[in-house]
Amino acid sequence: MENLLTRIINENKKYTNLGNVADYIPELKKANKEDLGVYIYTTDNEEYFAGDYNKKFSIQSISKIVTLMLALIENGEEYVFEKVGVEPTADSFNSIVSLETKNFHKPLNPMINSGAIAVISMISENKDEEPIDRILKFIRKITDNQDININEKIYLSEKETGHRNRALSYFMKSTNILEKNVEEVLDTYFKACSIEVTCKDIAKIASVLANGGILPWSKEKIIPRKVTRIIKTIMVTCGMYDASGEFAVSVGVPSKSGVGGGILSSVPSRMGIGVYGPALDSKGNSIGGIKVLEELSERLDLSIF
Ligand code: DON
Repeated sequence: MENLLTRIINENKKYTNLGNVADYIPELKKANKEDLGVYIYTTDNEEYFAGDYNKKFSIQSISKIVTLMLALIENGEEYVFEKVGVEPTADSFNSIVSLETKNFHKPLNPMINSGAIAVISMISENKDEEPIDRILKFIRKITDNQDININEKIYLSEKETGHRNRALSYFMKSTNILEKNVEEVLDTYFKACSIEVTCKDIAKIASVLANGGILPWSKEKIIPRKVTRIIKTIMVTCGMYDASGEFAVSVGVPSKSGVGGGILSSVPSRMGIGVYGPALDSKGNSIGGIKVLEELSERLDLSIF
């Protein structure tokens, strides 16, 4: 298996040249365009890896499934989906247009920025913990990694340049989708996007989803099975943004990407896969990462369809 992964990484490295590192957030420009890594964590606790699997990168939009899990566990699906839809969109992840023109001002789904910001506003705080503390605690649990933290420089860079997210959020405040203080909600969103992970961390999150909410390493059940089903379904329909349909055909595994270069893929009952390659295609998905997943899917017969 490790030989297969090494070969797949080496053969697909050339594609990283065809993409570009995200530059709309200045701090993300610093990533090394040629990096490419993969980590597999099976539901039987087997681990395989190759390439730049140990590099840290910001989780970005992959955090959208973590915050959705938390909001669903806490509030139930009826409450969450009253404010955010579950319909895919061909618009880009930070598009403003559909918020005003479609779905009675409800964000179309929780994987685009507007939907994710609305979902984050549902995560409650208590006297000892801010929403971001609860997000960090949850992610440390589902990765079994207590060292996970926010990359402060990326967070500040996001905050400084996140004008479009501000526009989306103030619009949602005007339509009562957002009830809380906009700047506080945005701050949590920027911090959640700036959480630093490796391929191993996201592979482990994916393995928990693949395992129906049970941590494969301790057998502890921490997410209701129904929530894991909802998350995997939304990953199939919306996880790769406006490339979700094409990705379902070529890879066929519930996945979520982020502009930091990560892709988290969950193969039901079998394994979690984390890939990293910061060179992105025009839709904001890791160009080398998609190639790696296409080949893995073919070689290991991973498509759920
Ligand atoms: O909201 C943003 O601009 C980012 N911090 C997160 C976006 C992201 O990862 C979109 N992904 N493909």
